[in-house]
Amino acid sequence: MRKLLFSLAIMIGVVFTSTADEGMWMLQLLKQQKLSEMHALGLKLEDYDIYNPDGASIKDAVVQFGRGCTGEVISSQGLVLTNHHCGFGQIQQHSSLGNNYLDDGFWAMRQEDELPNPGLTVTFIDQIEEVTAWVKECLVRDRERDKEGIFYLSPAYLNGLAREKAGEQFLNDHPGTEVEIKPFFEGNQYYMFTKKVYSDIRLVGAPPSAIGKFGADTDNWMWPRHTGDFSLFRIYADKEGNPAAFSTSNVPLKPKRWLTISTRGVEEDDFAMILGFPGTTHKYYTSWEVAERRDIDNSVRIRMREVRQDALLEEMLHDPAVKIQYASKYAGSTNAYKNAIGTSWAIDMHNFEQVKRDQQNRLAEWADRKNKPQYTDALKEIECIVKERADLRYRSWMLNEAVNRGVEFSTIPTAIAEHLVKALEDDDQAEAEKLLVQLESAYHQFADKDYNPGVDRKVSKKMIAAYMQAVPEEHYPGAFHLIASDFEGDSDRFVDFLFDQSLFGSEENFRRAVSGATLIESLRNDPMFLFAKSVRDEAASLRAQLASYDVPLSLARRTFMEGMLAMDEPYTHFPDANLTLRISYGKVKGYQPRDGVVYKHQTTIEGVMEKEDPDNWEFVVPEKLKALYSTGDFGPYAMPDGKLPIAFAATTHTTGGNSGSPVMNGAGELIGLNFDRNWEGVGGDIQYLPDYQRSIIVDIRYVLFVIDKFAGAKHLVEEMELR
Ligand code: ARG
Ligand code: GLU
Repeated sequence: MRKLLFSLAIMIGVVFTSTADEGMWMLQLLKQQKLSEMHALGLKLEDYDIYNPDGASIKDAVVQFGRGCTGEVISSQGLVLTNHHCGFGQIQQHSSLGNNYLDDGFWAMRQEDELPNPGLTVTFIDQIEEVTAWVKECLVRDRERDKEGIFYLSPAYLNGLAREKAGEQFLNDHPGTEVEIKPFFEGNQYYMFTKKVYSDIRLVGAPPSAIGKFGADTDNWMWPRHTGDFSLFRIYADKEGNPAAFSTSNVPLKPKRWLTISTRGVEEDDFAMILGFPGTTHKYYTSWEVAERRDIDNSVRIRMREVRQDALLEEMLHDPAVKIQYASKYAGSTNAYKNAIGTSWAIDMHNFEQVKRDQQNRLAEWADRKNKPQYTDALKEIECIVKERADLRYRSWMLNEAVNRGVEFSTIPTAIAEHLVKALEDDDQAEAEKLLVQLESAYHQFADKDYNPGVDRKVSKKMIAAYMQAVPEEHYPGAFHLIASDFEGDSDRFVDFLFDQSLFGSEENFRRAVSGATLIESLRNDPMFLFAKSVRDEAASLRAQLASYDVPLSLARRTFMEGMLAMDEPYTHFPDANLTLRISYGKVKGYQPRDGVVYKHQTTIEGVMEKEDPDNWEFVVPEKLKALYSTGDFGPYAMPDGKLPIAFAATTHTTGGNSGSPVMNGAGELIGLNFDRNWEGVGGDIQYLPDYQRSIIVDIRYVLFVIDKFAGAKHLVEEMELR
């Protein structure tokens, strides 16, 4: 019976390939792929309104914010909207106990007050071009140099090709222009992107964390949600509008295109679409990779982060200064932790192993019929590699999660220290002096204002103990053996010893050692240095051993994917996310998480007040917001029933990197700002879940309300185009 249903499904064809609303589609193929479906759902625009290679379109208002988020231009003066959590690092950098923008928010009332952010960039995509045939020709041309056969996926090689294609002259003549070629479908297709990268990006506004991060980690990845997760930046350019390094003579960018904003709100089942830069998905995992992800990667991550977060939280709740110092690190840790839990849940709940097995069986049967054994062989190869690398992968994940991420001092600058010892041994004075300066600067970069040795000492004790329990002794990095030989197995005493004796253990120790006469001896025998170096060596050795599987696995995956593309109609598949510009579409919609429970599509300020808890930092509601609530003074931003909208949910297929993405209605007007997904939906990175997966979106009316009524920065709203 199973078999019969299965062949039936093959005959119908489309069943397995994609469900409505699934997909992160490439803009330049919209017409061939999804435009008519989008029209049927309520899109009023044509493909060229969204993407027009010959003129301005919505695409030109969507930017990559930093390296991992999306943003959108929302005024003729280069104002950019993104999430609070995307600007979090910058807001934190400008914050201190005296000027606490994390707690109090920040609003530049004049452009002169906007704050520069060294290192932050905003990237526009100027051109997208398919270059598959050309890249394949170059790969043949360069095969002599490609000893290991890895060029076809190598960013360095592909970006070299991109520069070759664009021409050095062109790149020199256009400062801030960058080109990139990216592989799609595991290296079966290639696209080239011409980008403009702006680097003078200033902070314009951010709500207090009690709004921008309301619900914090308890609510992260959860619906119903009540977070005003937004912040505002501005792009500055030189007088000609070109990218330029920060300068007081720079002026706000006059962009090609900015989004208009709809304050009319949304109804359930309304059309919604999202443009953005989704990071990574695994739609084309095989069943074996699904199991590996759950049983090794996620399982290690969940267990080790629990240990680290418990330890960190204790310190943070104890001391407000530590709470600021570790806010970003803690949030980063819990974010991927909860995602891992949700993903493993979805893998089991929806039997992803079977879903992917069906996918690969369908390919195997087709390959049989067409006499294309290479596709079946590729599947066997993947199965075999996943099995063989299991132990190494486990140890590598363990070392990474427990030690590299959990023990901060495992990342002290060991390489420079080594070079310095060498220079001192060789009596190379000049070199030694140079390296000493480098070491001091690298140490201070490590022990920056957000590093607290007292916290690291406590947390590391927990992490090292957990690591030692989970990994067999013969696989410990070398330095761990001291714990048995010199500390009677007491890893806490070992950690205390490291901090007390090491020159990296405190600023004081460091000062004393670098000004002392016996620096060479201190460095050579420094226990923390030896520890970090031995962790580094073990990580490198694991990486090297695992790397021997990478090339064959990638090749097998390329062949597998080639088979999938050959088997199905052209334009059926969307490529896995790879931080390139994509469009997702669907409907505004609630969902049913469990039997008998129904979640609506929209939340309101009533929920903020329900969740309020003045004794829990995650759910504190600012006084000013409470005052506006009690008078019902929501200005023009209220819903028809008088309530203030906060967030809504939609069936759009999104992932990490889509944070800050514009959510638009059928007319292409901005209705919200994507910032999260529900945890029942994070498994969508492997398999889209139409009934469960929802993008979580701040309602644009809440954003406008906070800027205007809460912060009194009405001039910013006046800069925008409201419809
Ligand atoms: N889950 C969202 C995204 O992946 C938001 C993360 C930031 N918020 C937080 N509480 N950690 O990245
Ligand atoms: N918060 C995520 C981000 O930073 C988006 C949520 C998701 O993974 O869908 O990109």
